[in-house]
Amino acid sequence: GMFASVYQLEDENQQWAVRCFDKRLSDQQERYQAISRFILEDHLPFTVDFHYIEDGIKCGDAWFPVLKMPWVEGESLESYLGKIYREPELLQKLRREFQLMMDQLRINGAAHGDLQHGNILVKDGEIYLVDYDGFFVPELSGKKSNELGHHNFQHPGRSENHFGPYLDNFAAWLIDFSLFCLIEDPQLWETFSGGDECLLFRRSDFIKPDSSALISALKHHRSEKIRDGVEILLDLLRKPLEEIPFFESDMSVAIELKEMQTQGDLTN
Ligand SMILES: Nc1ncnc2c1ncn2[C@@H]1O[C@H](COP(=O)(O)OP(=O)(O)O)[C@@H](O)[C@H]1O
Ligand SMILES: [Mg+2]
Repeated sequence: GMFASVYQLEDENQQWAVRCFDKRLSDQQERYQAISRFILEDHLPFTVDFHYIEDGIKCGDAWFPVLKMPWVEGESLESYLGKIYREPELLQKLRREFQLMMDQLRINGAAHGDLQHGNILVKDGEIYLVDYDGFFVPELSGKKSNELGHHNFQHPGRSENHFGPYLDNFAAWLIDFSLFCLIEDPQLWETFSGGDECLLFRRSDFIKPDSSALISALKHHRSEKIRDGVEILLDLLRKPLEEIPFFESDMSVAIELKEMQTQGDLTN
């Protein structure tokens, strides 16, 4: 998100993350309470329970809302990847975790809205999501999105009007494919400055794929699976966000996508 700062506080029992808001959005309380209810009830292992407290912190004479959640002793996805990008088994485990998480979000009709290196924390190889500003839950259907997510992870066509269970579909394919690329070829992390506000791909790669050194390197990669994967990614970029299929860990979907694309090529 863009409207908050996070503090680590401790009481006798545990560490807390307390998120203070710089400004108040019109439907803020309603939104966060809907998201909080969903997360408190969802029993998903990768969400962190939080409460929205309307009168959370007093500044001068005025009270401001805060979010309170347990502090996750983890590190950001980019920091973790920076350590393990040469260890295919750990990468594979992480990718599997990520896929299971996306399956669970899909099954529950929810979407995070800002999947990116800073909002995905890793602790003992397990994934935790933080930053629920842009989270979609079924109760919020019909609203607009109050943020657009990190530009290096989102479909360039995303707007405030995109708000539904499909919201993460591009970012999920992108993150999964980025992890796959590193498993196949860890050197990509160094060559393309992975971890600098991104995993591997940046917005410029999405907007101008024809002049992207990364896209070109992947198109000519020795790994056939990387070559196929980058064609799928380019195909996703040509679709409107709402038409991008749900990410499914079942690879048959990737193959279907590839077939769809081949047909497209024939008719174009
Ligand atoms: N519950 C938490 N446990 C540990 N770290 C957290 C937690 N919540 C936030 N953080 C850290 O604070 C950073 C900023 O918090 P976040 O909620 O993403 O706000 P924003 O992106 O709006 O600054 C996160 O990237 C993460 O490193
Ligand atoms: Mg964040």
